[in-house]
Amino acid sequence: MSRLQHFGWFLSRGFGPHGWGHPYWEWNHDWTRPDLYQQSAKTLEQAGFDLVIIEDALSLGNADTLDLRIRSAYGGPKHDPLLLAPYLFDATTHLGIAPTVNPLAYSPYQAARQFATLQHLSANRFGINVVTDVGSSRHFGAEPLDHDGAYDRAEEWLGAVRRLWHSWGEDALIADAATGRFADGSKLDAFAHRGEHYRFDGPLNALPFPGLGAGGALSGDPIVVSPGGSPRGLAFAGEQSEVQLALASLDVETIRAYRAKVHAAARANGRDPSDIDVLFVFKPIIVSSREEADRIVDASAHPDDETLLAVAAGQSSDLETDLTGLDLDRPVDPAIFGDHVSRGTIKGLLGRYDDFADATLRELLTAKARLGRISDRAGYVGTAEEIADFIQELGDEADNDGFIFSGDLHPVTIHRMLGELVPILRRRGILRTTYGAGGLRGNLRDF
Ligand SMILES: Cc1cc2nc3c(=O)[nH]c(=O)nc-3n(C[C@H](O)[C@H](O)[C@H](O)COP(=O)(O)O)c2cc1C
Repeated sequence: MSRLQHFGWFLSRGFGPHGWGHPYWEWNHDWTRPDLYQQSAKTLEQAGFDLVIIEDALSLGNADTLDLRIRSAYGGPKHDPLLLAPYLFDATTHLGIAPTVNPLAYSPYQAARQFATLQHLSANRFGINVVTDVGSSRHFGAEPLDHDGAYDRAEEWLGAVRRLWHSWGEDALIADAATGRFADGSKLDAFAHRGEHYRFDGPLNALPFPGLGAGGALSGDPIVVSPGGSPRGLAFAGEQSEVQLALASLDVETIRAYRAKVHAAARANGRDPSDIDVLFVFKPIIVSSREEADRIVDASAHPDDETLLAVAAGQSSDLETDLTGLDLDRPVDPAIFGDHVSRGTIKGLLGRYDDFADATLRELLTAKARLGRISDRAGYVGTAEEIADFIQELGDEADNDGFIFSGDLHPVTIHRMLGELVPILRRRGILRTTYGAGGLRGNLRDF
């Protein structure tokens, strides 16, 4: 029997106009109404997925390039994923929901209170994807921190949030109607937090979690997910996270090496490596036959100008720099990128090239458009059987914990990606067929 793996879904462009610009927009789902997301979440639960992580960004970016973000709804608008969560909980019973949260936007007290409330309402199915972007600081009247400084602040913030959650002692809740005693105020911790970034007093005014006091399997803090892959990001994961959302090339060696780094970071913080699931982002293109796969892969090596322009539009949004009006057959002048554009994103555009002088824009974009066959381990295009082989191989040979599929939260996308794959994974014993009763933490600890 193969190793059971965990599966999740990353709503990769946040809570916004899903399906816009795609033919499936014609299905008449209204992206402003909860039904679209509820229908998708129900399907994911029926498929045996453990959680949905909802991407978010707090800003539309640089004021000079707003149009790049929103003209094709590629980088906005983005509504608040925290407020979508209750609707998804209402539509499901077992699925965990982890909206993206940036400490920049919430004081620890406000965060601890809202998250405790969502953990109640969902019967322990709530999690947070903690990110540290500082580009949106100006919207909050805050000075931007540097990369590592933002992680330091996130650690102080999470520590403070957890202390608030635990400011109700284990036996604070009595809930004895016969004696009329609900809780014991002497068991609450009215602590004073005086840190580098935050100054406030406890205790929390909300009762942390269902199961508290009963010692039940239902008790437990919300799950922390982290996506940062830098050394500082992995150190954060080792100390704080239950799920590392990992972005890496998907092969046995890379997965082993990535897992080893996260496990070492966990041990360095006195934690058991099995306390963290490392789940790799995966966006396969599933086709109905090997011939179709060949056809798509061959065509991708020679993209037409329309395809390249679509790739340029996506890159322009991410880079906050308009590439769509540039001459495809000349190299890009690196001076067009403003200081605010991250070096990592620029390196991403360069891909295997060292320098912009080495390639025309057409060559850069062609490399981005190029697809490969999963059966050759050259990309992620394949039949459902081939994709399942790949997932199985990484579970068996790299001891992979699981995958996070990435896309919009639209029924058409989900059926296209999972319709054929789920039955195969289940037949092979890789994907769960039932859930336990332990909420999101339970989902992650079931195996
Ligand atoms: C798979 C993945 C998902 C991410 N999701 C978000 C997100 O939703 N919002 C956000 O602001 N940053 C997001 N990030 C960015 C990270 O939070 C982080 O800022 C970035 O990876 C830089 O940190 P690092 O240098 O430690 O990798 C994501 C990163 C990855 C790899």
